[in-house]
Amino acid sequence: MRISVFGCGYLGAVHAACMTRLGHDVIGVDVIPEHIAALSRGEAPFYEPGLPDLLAEGIATGRLVFTTDQSRAADAQIHFICVGTPQKAGEYAADLTYVESAVTAILPLLKPGDVVVGKSTVPVGTAERIAERVRMAQPGAELIWNPEFLREGFAVEDTLKPDRLVYGMAQTDSARAAAALLDEVYAVALADGTPKVEADLATAQLVKVAANSFLSTKISFINAMAELCEATGADVSLLADAIGHDARIGRRFLNAGVGFGGGCLPKDIRAFMARAGELGVDQALSFLREVDSINMRRRVRMVDLAREECGGSIVGRRIAVLGAAFKPDSDDIRDSPALSVAAQMQLQGARVTVTDPKAIDNARKKWPELSFAQTVADAVAGAEVILLLTEWPEYVGLDPVELRERVAVPRIIDGRNCLDPVAWRAAGWTYRALGRP
Ligand code: UGA
Repeated sequence: MRISVFGCGYLGAVHAACMTRLGHDVIGVDVIPEHIAALSRGEAPFYEPGLPDLLAEGIATGRLVFTTDQSRAADAQIHFICVGTPQKAGEYAADLTYVESAVTAILPLLKPGDVVVGKSTVPVGTAERIAERVRMAQPGAELIWNPEFLREGFAVEDTLKPDRLVYGMAQTDSARAAAALLDEVYAVALADGTPKVEADLATAQLVKVAANSFLSTKISFINAMAELCEATGADVSLLADAIGHDARIGRRFLNAGVGFGGGCLPKDIRAFMARAGELGVDQALSFLREVDSINMRRRVRMVDLAREECGGSIVGRRIAVLGAAFKPDSDDIRDSPALSVAAQMQLQGARVTVTDPKAIDNARKKWPELSFAQTVADAVAGAEVILLLTEWPEYVGLDPVELRERVAVPRIIDGRNCLDPVAWRAAGWTYRALGRP
């Protein structure tokens, strides 16, 4: 198939590279010339395992091209909308500027039989408006809403082997013909038995935000339990293991700690609440406000724990922070709990040094007043307390005996409940964690 991908950020760059791997001819379009230049050289503008190899492979075949020239996408039969929908400044609602400009760029290119496929996360109702614009511009073209569920860090795997495909579409012959074309795009996954759910446009848009709301709720639920555990001396990790054995609950996404961040979950639950308000059903999602507050409270609690450990004040104290990315295997610092805690402590007078295997450059741009170290050894040198805030495997595997030699005071706060308290205490450390005695 001849495919265009509008928007070459996390979602679009991965989608374009994966579609080439599946055998299609792909043109990736973006308005940021530096990103297009990097992608054209086979370099990902962000860290995502497996992506550089896939880009290099695609570019070498000549079937993967990146450009800022939208008109070059005119040959494509299928146009994917993969642009970002960030939170509007000072509001909960999503900013649809990039979606609108992608659609405006695609409309004049449409030929009869072409398909526009929406993958961006949008407020329900957006796809219906786009469908109308597509119909007006080219009555022979169709819109299908096909939300994306990839996770950063596993984006390539999630795109090549999705756990489900959702098609939001009209129940007309031409929409069914469009869906058949999309089936050809995803032929490999469908042949592997990937479940496909065909739905109306509204349901397809809601599936995405409902899934992210559920995941956020699961994390905030266990973090609320962590608050209870802190008040009672119970252990939230054991609690999660025990309730997770119930298959109806499941252990995944029940890791208590400093909470969720990133470019998706926080802004998606807020945009969902904003949209529910517009639709007059804000009460239905009022629980998400609590999900958000539980999540933000964990960051405050982390700073409070550091203060407690420093004897009541962090002013002038040397604090090492392990992790800046919002999660391991990513250099993404958007709404990162780790960086937000580090910055709070710095603002409150601590001397904070942050390290991260991949995210230091991004973190420095956002918070230049923080100190950064390339290695754990440098970050913790002379530290009076260490905070582990992103569970990179190299931090989870740290040797407490070796690390003890480098710090001023052996005190660690495990913000991701990923260390073995017994081993750290045995090595002479004061070990604290969120929701564990
Ligand atoms: C999330 C969803 O998981 C994807 O399915 C979705 O496609 C994506 O958003 C999106 O909307 O594009 P992602 O933001 O990459 O993916 O990250 P997650 O793996 O969901 O993690 C989000 C945050 O939750 C991280 O800060 C992570 O540390 C935190 N988390 C996760 C916990 O605090 N506890 C857990 O048990 C799991």
